[in-house]
Amino acid sequence: MLTTISKIKDYVDQEATIQGWMFNKRGSGKIYFLQLRDGTGIIQGIVEASSVSPETLAEAEKLTAESSVKITGMVTKHPKQADTYEIQVKNIEIVQLVTEEYPISKKDHGIEFLMDQRHLWLRSSRQWAIQRIRNTIINASFEWLNNNDYIKIDAPILTPNACEGTTELFGVDYFDMGQAYLSQSGQLYIEAAIFSVGRCFDFGPVFRAEKSKTRRHLTEFWMLDAEAAFVEHEQNMEIQEQLITHIVKSVLAKNANELKILERNIEPLQKIEAPFIRKTHAEVIKELREMGSDIGDMDDLGADDETMLTKKYDKPIFVEKYPAIVKAFYMKPDPKDPTRALCADLLAPEGYGEIIGGSQREDDYDKLLKKIQEHKLPVEAFQWYLDLRKFGSVPHSGFGYGLERLVTWICGLEHVRESIPFPRTIYRLTP
Ligand code: 4AD
Ligand code: MG
Repeated sequence: MLTTISKIKDYVDQEATIQGWMFNKRGSGKIYFLQLRDGTGIIQGIVEASSVSPETLAEAEKLTAESSVKITGMVTKHPKQADTYEIQVKNIEIVQLVTEEYPISKKDHGIEFLMDQRHLWLRSSRQWAIQRIRNTIINASFEWLNNNDYIKIDAPILTPNACEGTTELFGVDYFDMGQAYLSQSGQLYIEAAIFSVGRCFDFGPVFRAEKSKTRRHLTEFWMLDAEAAFVEHEQNMEIQEQLITHIVKSVLAKNANELKILERNIEPLQKIEAPFIRKTHAEVIKELREMGSDIGDMDDLGADDETMLTKKYDKPIFVEKYPAIVKAFYMKPDPKDPTRALCADLLAPEGYGEIIGGSQREDDYDKLLKKIQEHKLPVEAFQWYLDLRKFGSVPHSGFGYGLERLVTWICGLEHVRESIPFPRTIYRLTP
């Protein structure tokens, strides 16, 4: 029976066929141990000279790394390791025999070489594990949001105006209409949609022409924005902590093997439980200064500040009420202190820093118009967005996470570039 490695335990003491790729081969002459991967897992096939035909033995001898192959044989339980299965190979069908040396060998390669070979590097156990965790994070997000009255609404990627800072826009020539821009966030569009569906989220690639060279910045990344009518600042944070808790719990439940491959210490992940830590921007500035930072009272947090702060904690931290001047035009000012925004960034612990940006939105037409003007944004381009404050305006809030930042934190990676299949940074557009 043709099956997959993920289902192999259902075939103990039966014959099964697995199709995949040669990962590794040991042995010679009398016995070969074939490490085979098929996308769902890795299994060892044992080819014993005494129990296979000379043809099968010859095929085993020929097999090279990354050759594609189908192997058939009896499935057995590993004599010593629990939950481990092997195949006593009877037949080998080579689909394609690799005759060139595979560029990625066991020896240490530099990161630039590996990034140039990204199309092949994705096959390594580590990259496989990261992509599987990424998949769990996406699914867990959709699951939690769908179970909590959010529906998915797709926002456009080609847009006529900025959502976040205008200095980070990628321009595109758009026929006779002149400049269009690649979306920085679908937020403004899903804000429109909540007046139809109440709560919604988008998920898709967004673009930032940022010259940042940090380990956290990509020029193309995947964002999930979520928005909800009648939700104010406090509840907005509660929604985020529930979503993040669900995501982390799902990864722990579904990807124990992958986390092990990544050598991720899961203790900090096991502690992720609502409520998260809440601190105001003013409190954080004080704390950072005590740690030696020279950050100013009304400064935004830099990457280094976030690292320093979050290394101290093993729970995510909401940093609330940033100075309005360092944040986007759409944020509602805090009625108690209008120099501050009713916003929060969620910072991941262990030195990872910002994973979510969110806020309550300005819902008053005149105040929003004034903000758009103050930020020197073209009012005409935002007229549709202003309209939302004319027809049934309500308090509403939302947030957006950067998928790669989440993957990097949950997987315990050094750099965001490994969290996305084909990273785009200011230095890299290939493969
Ligand atoms: O904080 P940001 O800029 O917020 C927004 O775009 C809002 N419109 C979201 C909303 O309220 N719906 O971006 C949101 C998240 C950040 O917290 C970070 O995780 C990620 O997107 N992010 C990046 N990830 C990788 N590379 C970059 N250059 C990123 N810029 C932001
Ligand atoms: Mg932000």
